Amino acid sequence: MTEKKLWGGRFEAGLEKWVEEFGASITFDQKMAEFDIKGSLAHVSMLGQTGIIPQEDADTIKAGLEELLQEYKAGQLVFDVSNEDIHMNIETLLTEKIGPVAGKLHTARSRNDQVATDMHLYLKAKLAEVVEKLSHLRQTLLSLAEKHIYTIMPGYTHLQHAQPISFGHHLMAYYNMFTRDSERFAFNQQHTDLSPLGAAALAGTTFPIDRQMTAELMGFAKPYSNSLDAVSDRDFILEFLANASILMMHMSRICEELINWCSNEYQFVTLSDTFSTGSSIMPQKKNPDMAELIRGKSGRVFGNLFGLLTVMKSLPLAYNKDLQEDKEGMFDTAETITVAIDILAGMLESMTVNDAHMAESTEKDFSNATELADYLAVKGLPFRQAHEIVGKLVLECTKNGHYLQDVPFERYQEISDLIEEDIYTALQSKTAVERRNSLGGTGFDQVKKQIEEAKKVF
Ligand code: ARG
Repeated sequence: MTEKKLWGGRFEAGLEKWVEEFGASITFDQKMAEFDIKGSLAHVSMLGQTGIIPQEDADTIKAGLEELLQEYKAGQLVFDVSNEDIHMNIETLLTEKIGPVAGKLHTARSRNDQVATDMHLYLKAKLAEVVEKLSHLRQTLLSLAEKHIYTIMPGYTHLQHAQPISFGHHLMAYYNMFTRDSERFAFNQQHTDLSPLGAAALAGTTFPIDRQMTAELMGFAKPYSNSLDAVSDRDFILEFLANASILMMHMSRICEELINWCSNEYQFVTLSDTFSTGSSIMPQKKNPDMAELIRGKSGRVFGNLFGLLTVMKSLPLAYNKDLQEDKEGMFDTAETITVAIDILAGMLESMTVNDAHMAESTEKDFSNATELADYLAVKGLPFRQAHEIVGKLVLECTKNGHYLQDVPFERYQEISDLIEEDIYTALQSKTAVERRNSLGGTGFDQVKKQIEEAKKVF
């Protein structure tokens, strides 16, 4: 049994230590300490200004909270599990500092609106950080794409060489994904930019509070319009977890490509030493651990989304203690994605692109087969017939152990009198890329256009 709780009035017996530990959240919700104090500062300013408590008391409480904030920043606050969560820990520390007047702080407030407020403040700050980090990642991709407009690589479908493309074009595809991610987080900011404070336990309060004032003091766009929704809404966190999951899925896709590209089979890129690790047994190894970890960590982020969705499913209004389970997944996701974004940007910035090797690998394949079919189709042969002819020729080449560009001109003329000497130029990867000039295609001019458009937003 432990000492008396802040809510202990109606209890005769206390909690046993192990039960108390099960119910406590202080081990993890102390991450919100700063936001809890800031929320309390706004609340007490409002209590003073509206005359709900004497201004003098409000000033004493404010001074105490300011001191606690400094002490927290200096790493001097010690939290106690017997005070359950960050809210009651701060209130207890405040009481120790300024005495019973601290008890006036909780007038017209409940931990239910308080915890929701802390979560909004925390996530609002994190979202701004995520959007900024994404902007840096997008800029990294953009400048890399610009550098590699003319770098030719095999484009794949089914992981088989399909058609040659510009490496810049490939990178811009990821740029677009991360731009959509960024837009999703920006929309998420709107749903996070709301103040639950003043909803109290669930029904509002009889005190003449000013919710507009506290919302403004905390920098929120506006207060929630419904007190029940304010204390039980966790959509803003679910949105964050869903957006983070999509982002991680995108990051794991590009990481998977980097892992492939730096393998002996591809050798398209060389990752810098700073983002690679060695093996404890195989001296030659240089492993893309960081890319693998981003790919792997997508699992925990998806898990956090499903964890909270499951917590929220069927939860009746308004506050239920289940909601305490909303925090760890959110913290974990925020911490995971902010580092992962930086690691990915760092890997991309510091890697070496083996452009000659990339281009060469489009010379030893049949990724120009569409060029030959298109060549015949342009000259009037129905595309289906052209497809059939080229398919047969590819088969013949594979049997002879060479490629379309190695087929002698006499053989081409036997195949079709539509084929002229310029076929060899048409079959070059560079020509193939250059000529795919349809809107959004891989043609160099189109890639340049994409990059120019993208640059306008920075
Ligand atoms: N630690 C709690 C949480 O994270 C704070 C709210 C507690 N409210 C209550 N009525 N028990 O959800």
